[in-house]
Amino acid sequence: MKPKARILVIIISALIIAALLSFIFIRAGKKASTEKKTSQNHEKLILGFSQIGSESAWRTRNTASIFEAAAENNIQILFDDAQQKQENQLKAIRSFIVYQVDVIAFVPIVEDGWDNVLQEARDAGIPVILVDRQINADSSLYAGFLGENGLEEGRKAARFLLEKIQADGSTAGNGERADRTINILELSGTENSSVVRERAKGFREVIEKDSRLQIIHSEDGDFLRSRGQEITEGLIQKARDNGNFKNDALYFEGQKIDVVYSHNDSMTLGLLDSIGNYGVSTSETIIISIDAEQKCIDALTQGKLNCVVECNPNLGPMLMHLVEQIAQGKTIPRITYIEEKVFTEDDDFSLYEPRGY
Ligand code: AHR
Repeated sequence: MKPKARILVIIISALIIAALLSFIFIRAGKKASTEKKTSQNHEKLILGFSQIGSESAWRTRNTASIFEAAAENNIQILFDDAQQKQENQLKAIRSFIVYQVDVIAFVPIVEDGWDNVLQEARDAGIPVILVDRQINADSSLYAGFLGENGLEEGRKAARFLLEKIQADGSTAGNGERADRTINILELSGTENSSVVRERAKGFREVIEKDSRLQIIHSEDGDFLRSRGQEITEGLIQKARDNGNFKNDALYFEGQKIDVVYSHNDSMTLGLLDSIGNYGVSTSETIIISIDAEQKCIDALTQGKLNCVVECNPNLGPMLMHLVEQIAQGKTIPRITYIEEKVFTEDDDFSLYEPRGY
């Protein structure tokens, strides 16, 4: 071969090899970027989870359920306990973004103030799942919600009340005709949280059907046993200061409280602590609580409560399923509700299973 022809062959071969190599590199690069979209290239899926704290036995069980399910599904959790502060949750979510977790899940303590951080997660390509509570934000900023139906919980509590007063025609099963108003005390949970708004709304929607039912006092007990106790003590102390204390029931500004609607069991247990301390009887008071912790189920079987609406904390298995779906590039439902029961004084208590929280 002439030298000129040899040079030409070398140049052509070099060009072919270069073209082949760049094809291989482009394919490899494409594959890596597709994988990154679903799993950020971690060996195990990593879930960043921001919990609001441990204000109740319900919350402790909720956290445990998520850890147990993660272990069962070989999903690693990066956990943060926000100690009841939204600012801590915002910091935690930002740290999950820096860490490039595969999915972020969080329990929004309040409804507002999440837009910026969720936009940051979206810009980083990290999908977000809301757990237990909902938010006020554009729904495109998160993949979906998993938790309880707070509106329905409030309605269930009120339906029990309505049926009870309509069945016996009295305020509290004591034979006294209720031509007067039936006075309700509401112990409400954390202000500005979605679950409180929903439980309040659902309850009101149903009690409107009987004009005798009136909420005469509503107070924020922050879902805490200590606050439930404090609020009840406050009512008792006020009656004592005004010289009109009676121990046959709780009173608000001289009006007998016929019904207590408590947004969670911790506050209900606080109320029971207080009435025990001051020797106040609530045997004629209808008491309805939400959560279904073992302690409140026990109180129901002992006749101290009339109804407990379940709020199911065992969200772990469903959450891991959603995380896996997202990691596989699938779309998850906008809303996934967990199943919840109602426990009442009319139940066959022998059928109750231990609650586990
Ligand atoms: O958001 C769910 C509520 O928060 C539960 O009813 C309560 O116990 C918890 O603290």
